[in-house]
Amino acid sequence: MTNILFVSTSPRGADSLSTKVALTLLSDLETANPNATVVTRDLGAAPLPHLGPDLLGGFFAPDDQRTPDQKQAVATSDALIAELKAADIVVLASAMINFTITSTLKSWFDHLARAGLTFRYTEEGKPEGLMTGKKVYLVVSTGGIYSAEPGSAVDFQAPYLKHMLGFMGLTDVEIVRVEGSLLGPDAPEKAVEAATAQVHAVAQQAAA
Ligand SMILES: Cc1cc2nc3c(=O)[nH]c(=O)nc-3n(C[C@H](O)[C@H](O)[C@H](O)COP(=O)(O)O)c2cc1C
Repeated sequence: MTNILFVSTSPRGADSLSTKVALTLLSDLETANPNATVVTRDLGAAPLPHLGPDLLGGFFAPDDQRTPDQKQAVATSDALIAELKAADIVVLASAMINFTITSTLKSWFDHLARAGLTFRYTEEGKPEGLMTGKKVYLVVSTGGIYSAEPGSAVDFQAPYLKHMLGFMGLTDVEIVRVEGSLLGPDAPEKAVEAATAQVHAVAQQAAA
């Protein structure tokens, strides 16, 4: 059975273009894998707490010495790691906010990046990702154009996402861009149309 984890991150609710395109991709993936299970983590609707003293303290305290607040904070992190670990495919919809990812998506990474669980350091001190063997589809939506110069110089979203995912071992990443949606009255429609065509091609490739 194929397990799909769908993570959406837009603060724009039903207006979100990244969610819309990612849902089309999900539908294609489910058609290709009729027995797939989908777990949805909507970080836009239910933001995660930021990294704070309880979570950070809890990470480094032995299990039996954690305070009740630390235990609760670490339990959220453990659940998010288990969710990711169980996934064969990750569909991550990321809205660009102020040139980068949403703060709640950053928080997702802050809950996930734990030495010994999602990455480790080798004897030579090199980081090694432990969440290997997964396919990631990254749907990034941006008001401007960042796939080419001059925008690509200030794209702190897709390169960061690729780096963080790779750091944890998620190196098989396919990017779909819903871009330029703020560049004119019919720009959102055109951006979704182009991205949807890319989604169908990508899903067809996966099914082949
Ligand atoms: C608060 C805010 C900040 C934004 N910052 C940027 C930005 O820095 N660069 C950009 O190209 N678009 C920016 N946008 C536009 C969004 O990236 C665009 O609307 C995108 O479609 C959002 O993803 P979503 O449709 O999934 O919500 C911003 C939008 C909002 C609401």
